[in-house]
Amino acid sequence: MAEFTLPKNSKIRKGRHFKAPAGSTRVRTFKVYRWNPDDGQNPSTDTYEVDLDKCGPMVLDALIKIKNEVDPTLTFRRSCREGICGSCAMNIDGTNTLACTLAIDDCRKAEVPVYPLPHMSVVKDLVPDLTHFYAQYASIQPWIRTQSAPPPDRERLQSPADRDKLDGLYECILCACCTTSCPSYWWNGERYLGPAVLLQAYRWIIDSRDEDTGARLDDLEDPFKLYRCHTIMNCARTCPKGLNPAKAIGSIKQLMLARHG
Ligand code: SF4
Ligand code: SF4
Ligand code: FES
Repeated sequence: MAEFTLPKNSKIRKGRHFKAPAGSTRVRTFKVYRWNPDDGQNPSTDTYEVDLDKCGPMVLDALIKIKNEVDPTLTFRRSCREGICGSCAMNIDGTNTLACTLAIDDCRKAEVPVYPLPHMSVVKDLVPDLTHFYAQYASIQPWIRTQSAPPPDRERLQSPADRDKLDGLYECILCACCTTSCPSYWWNGERYLGPAVLLQAYRWIIDSRDEDTGARLDDLEDPFKLYRCHTIMNCARTCPKGLNPAKAIGSIKQLMLARHG
């Protein structure tokens, strides 16, 4: 498991405690990281007791219930509620994961800790600043790059066998759970691209329709962008979609070796 480490603006105060309503019979407690950039205070953890008999089954359901019924100031990202958009990625119960696909009953700790993705600057509460992560994603130019003219009468086609090579890669939702669990990224994130962006880089390198493979590999031939991966494997352990970025990184390294004979 990728265990929690404190976000960059840490030193956590004990926060407020919101009790479950009287008469609640099935109560679960969530300890939630709070930080407001506008109040000048250090972060805190607020404690919320939730009656599970009046709440949906997922951790995101509990957070939405808290926001709607107890504390409207609680801030987090979410959109699809289906494990597709990646917005609700956070560190829950000691692991980076998606709040919408983690069942409350599957959390191990009696008081479930809910923190933002680790080692990122925090915008507010559970919202990490992903600006640099997205800039790194844009840097690999995540689209098909071609040299030849397109066929006049149809799309650029791909055989089923070539399409199969994208399995295990195209499913990535860019949630950043893997990248923020990677010790190499914690220490060298300014220059190391990290597992999510490298998995995406490989997705375009092996796409049979892309004609810029050499240039893509040239761009990764750098002591920091690619070679800071030391195969620690936190990325594969934490990916909520069951993907293996470390394997994709290994495949890029093999292609590099093959080019150099
Ligand atoms: S295998 Fe590489 S990318 Fe994955 S966590 Fe380890 S160092 Fe990071
Ligand atoms: S590889 Fe997995 S953990 Fe990493 S960004 Fe993609 S979906 Fe998220
Ligand atoms: S809300 Fe979209 S992945 Fe959780």
